[in-house]
Amino acid sequence: MNQVVIIFLIAIGLALLGGILWYLLWLTEGMYLGWRVVALLYDLYAGRYDRAKRYDHVYETFCLARPILSRLRQDSVTAPLVLDVATGTGRLPHVLLEQDDFHGRVIGLDISRQMLFHAAVKLFGHARCHLIWHTVAALPFFDDTFDLVTCLEAWEFFPHAREDLRELARVLRPGGIMLISNRTGPDSRVMPGKTLDTASLQRWLTDELGLIEVTCARWQVDYDLIWARKTGASLPSGPRPLAENLRCPACEDGNLVPSADETAWACTTCGQRVSTGEDGVIELLPLYGRQPQRASAPSSARSE
Ligand SMILES: C[S@@+](CC[C@H](N)C(=O)[O-])C[C@H]1O[C@@H](n2cnc3c(N)ncnc32)[C@H](O)[C@@H]1O
Repeated sequence: MNQVVIIFLIAIGLALLGGILWYLLWLTEGMYLGWRVVALLYDLYAGRYDRAKRYDHVYETFCLARPILSRLRQDSVTAPLVLDVATGTGRLPHVLLEQDDFHGRVIGLDISRQMLFHAAVKLFGHARCHLIWHTVAALPFFDDTFDLVTCLEAWEFFPHAREDLRELARVLRPGGIMLISNRTGPDSRVMPGKTLDTASLQRWLTDELGLIEVTCARWQVDYDLIWARKTGASLPSGPRPLAENLRCPACEDGNLVPSADETAWACTTCGQRVSTGEDGVIELLPLYGRQPQRASAPSSARSE
């Protein structure tokens, strides 16, 4: 084979490889390569995330915080217990806690330790906020806990999105509100199996998760917002301490309660110890050698 043809074939091969890497690592941010790769990429990107996103506080206030608080107020929930799954650098906790009329407690959970570090820096001094290093799989909370569960710009990254969204519904209390985003921009068309058009997602939330009042609102250029409610009714959970809600991931039975200085947490049933980083992040993920498994049966009743 002549040399020119060989160089041409090598160039084509390199271009193909570059294209595949660009698609897998940049465009789709590791979503086809498993949760460890997603976590690693977000760890690497965490320091630049807020600069790249350029979140505008006024926009965030009027397009996220105010609609959330207004819906909660309609339900007479003045001090909600909120879970933000895949909280990243703490966008949602931050904008809620900045509102003078937000009297609730927010728990932000994410798989990327570095994203949580930046969240911790941003949220420093807010006592009514906790950050937890864990994946969406087998959420470490008891059933029917939160007044509001949110998940923004994230479910398309989840390894088993449908099962993982079921987890969000599990920890929402009956009558509680769910708010998730749905990716709709041109990128979403090149993410087969990871995205759904908004109408299909709404149908799925209704038919498969049994959620009600599922409505859609236009939000950002690339995302819609979907609101939904869990069937049934229960009293608001209110801003109770995290220790009442945090389920031990080891035995899935006891509560994790903090030491006096909150530098560590321990299970009331099996004694499992969990450390807290210097930035205050509760580090549950290192307890697992692999992706946490969902419990096969519903968790036991919350220990009061
Ligand atoms: C695009 S960012 C969105 C962050 C934040 N919600 C926001 O709106 O700015 C996606 C986030 O999802 C998190 N994530 C991806 N897969 C996850 C998983 N399986 N469990 C928990 N978090 C996950 C990533 O670490 C990242 O912080």
